[in-house]
Amino acid sequence: MKKVLSGIQPSGSLTLGNYIGAMKNFVKLQEEHQCYFMVVDLHAVTVPQEPASLREQSEAVAALFIAAGIDPARSNVYLQSHVPQHAELGWLMTTLTAMGELERMTQFKDKSSGKDTVGAGLFVYPALMAADILVYNADLVPVGEDQKQHLELTRDLAGRFNHRYGEFFTIPEPYIPKVGARIMSLDDGRKKMSKSNPNAGSYIALLDSPDVIRKKISRATTDSGREIVYDAANKPEVSNLMSIYSECSGLSLAEITERYEGQMYGGFKKDLAEVVVATLEPIQERYREIRSSGAITDILASGAERARAVASVTLAGVKDRMGFLPAR
Ligand code: AMP
Ligand code: TRP
Repeated sequence: MKKVLSGIQPSGSLTLGNYIGAMKNFVKLQEEHQCYFMVVDLHAVTVPQEPASLREQSEAVAALFIAAGIDPARSNVYLQSHVPQHAELGWLMTTLTAMGELERMTQFKDKSSGKDTVGAGLFVYPALMAADILVYNADLVPVGEDQKQHLELTRDLAGRFNHRYGEFFTIPEPYIPKVGARIMSLDDGRKKMSKSNPNAGSYIALLDSPDVIRKKISRATTDSGREIVYDAANKPEVSNLMSIYSECSGLSLAEITERYEGQMYGGFKKDLAEVVVATLEPIQERYREIRSSGAITDILASGAERARAVASVTLAGVKDRMGFLPAR
């Protein structure tokens, strides 16, 4: 049994990309491993958030974890801010991190480009992410492709700490799906599907109604040409829709190609919309039940309690090795 950790930011409505790239694997991994699934609210505030919407989104993301199939009795589901050891180890991790390493992070470059002012938190964000993972000595981190670089930095920082202070941290491995690790935007097959895109037609939110899903898929950009074949370099839009189809139906890309041979995009997109609706409807139903039951507060409280118990032991070990005097 391995330790698995991942986090999702409560900074907008979660998308089908979050589900396929990350959450679907959370559900699978909990069958065999000890899991920590966090709503990373401290990461979300690296860009300005309205307090009311941060509160709402934090609870919404936790409820979506459960609705997607995470069993809170088996996995720890909690908010990052409820486990103060993340922030404290995060600070210590920044002291091991070089400015140049942070400057190379493509997520930072993307999120800061064109902005007049950029918060320092956005810059040091990967050091906090490293702390999230290392504070539990996680072995496996299920994430989408865009987090690979942050994971590499985490591995470097763990190795650097071990080298400087003696073997201590487990070096974590990324767990990135083969298909669906980078679901693309519906209006541009070369951009990642993202909840922060101002055009809501570019993503499918997990809570979009069936009619909205049908509309968005029917309007999704498709490449010129008419063949339904997977070719990510030359036909990024159709390839993306095929990946979504495959992930939501369980059919392989080859089976989808065979099924739609000689057919037009229109029929394929109609079927795809139904496959996506069938995937999301049961999640939405469970989501509404969980929200109205008020169960989330207790789930988050017990998840955080178990997480703190583990994180506090690691943090004490780190501080001891680094030479901090104990508090008494
Ligand atoms: P975020 O919404 O940035 O907190 O991302 C949460 C998780 O979803 C991370 O593991 C991301 O890699 C993953 N993710 C976000 N967008 C996508 C996407 N378009 N395709 C696949 N995975 C994604
Ligand atoms: N940086 C991740 C993202 O934007 C979220 C995240 C924060 C995370 N801490 C983590 C993911 C720890 C995996 C493990 O998607």
